[in-house]
Amino acid sequence: MRKTFLPFSLPTIGEEEIAEVVDALRSGWVTTGPKTKRFEEQLAAYVGTGLALAVNSCTAGLHIALSALGIRPGDEVIVPTLTFCSTANVVVHLGARPVFVDVGEDFNVTAGAIEAAITPRTKAIMPVHFGGQSCDLDKIYAVAAAHNLPVVEDAAHAIGSSYHGMKLGSDALSSRGIRRATVFSFYATKNMTTGEGGMITTDDQDLADRMRLYALHGMSRDAWKRYTSAGSWFYEVVVPGYKDNMTDIQSAMGIHQLRKLDGFIATRQRYAGIYDRAFSGLAEVATPIVHPDRNNVYHLYVLRLNLEKLTIDRSQFIEELRARNIGASVHFIPVHMHPFYRDTFGYRKGSYPVSEKLYEQILSLPLFPGMIESDVQDVIAAVGDIIAQHNH
Ligand SMILES: Cc1ncc(COP(=O)(O)O)c(C=O)c1O
Repeated sequence: MRKTFLPFSLPTIGEEEIAEVVDALRSGWVTTGPKTKRFEEQLAAYVGTGLALAVNSCTAGLHIALSALGIRPGDEVIVPTLTFCSTANVVVHLGARPVFVDVGEDFNVTAGAIEAAITPRTKAIMPVHFGGQSCDLDKIYAVAAAHNLPVVEDAAHAIGSSYHGMKLGSDALSSRGIRRATVFSFYATKNMTTGEGGMITTDDQDLADRMRLYALHGMSRDAWKRYTSAGSWFYEVVVPGYKDNMTDIQSAMGIHQLRKLDGFIATRQRYAGIYDRAFSGLAEVATPIVHPDRNNVYHLYVLRLNLEKLTIDRSQFIEELRARNIGASVHFIPVHMHPFYRDTFGYRKGSYPVSEKLYEQILSLPLFPGMIESDVQDVIAAVGDIIAQHNH
């Protein structure tokens, strides 16, 4: 058994990030400024878009995008139930109703489920690229175009991920005549991190301008420019915006994490391949479904338990892993099952059979670039040992 605890995730931060943060601190410019501008430009080039807006979380970015699209009380927004609560919370913050839809066996929402949930009150669609693998975007964009609906993509897990060879959030992927914003997360566990942080990309200049307003108090000019030698004190508030801008301290980390991202992804993919090969022969578990037309960046490695072949449930399986010094997590508790959503909107258990079934079966195994191969082997050994002790 392992001597030390292996967490489910750890950030990989090097001396370059530390030196750049120190440089921000010494520069006298700690909030949004030149490093944030550089980070936006570099991320825009990496993704392949002209318009990138740095914000202080993915949650803030989703909220800004929906606000800029004019979502308001009485509106409905379509959200998969197998997601983190914030995808739905931001809809509620605007007084609108999150209309949950089920996911497929690959954990991603389907165009068919989205189309079936559209009503005259639907004002936006929020697909989630679960675990770092893209949804079937051709089909989802086609539904959006047919119903003239904007798409706000929750790409919290999916920076660097691609669909049909085009990066999520790129202009090439989304020039289909629909309004689209794609929002990434740089939270501590994500494939690259700024501590807390996020980035919105779009190919829609009008939407980008409105989002930039909402990100900083609704002020008609960038606040940071007011304090440069070229700036002036005057501004006008044109919408009641938020305080969601990214600081240069965060961007200092982001600039270097972005440079390392492809390397991080390659390590994640290599370890996911080792997990796949180890688990694919076991009847007690199932490996994640991957689509050959997409590049899965493996933010998560989600193992499914075949509960009929085991004498323990998923929670007990996680406890058994913990007893062997291996961390694990669950992504996600379907949002419609949380008390607020159940009590406020009347959602009931039983309404989303695939998500609810998956919820009983899933656990996310440790996967991060700082792991060494023997860590991966420790996880494999622990899973094998638990199965050997608790199978039918
Ligand atoms: C699917 C999903 N959406 C949104 C978020 C929110 O991201 P952030 O913490 O950057 O606000 C997360 C996770 O943290 C997530 O997993």
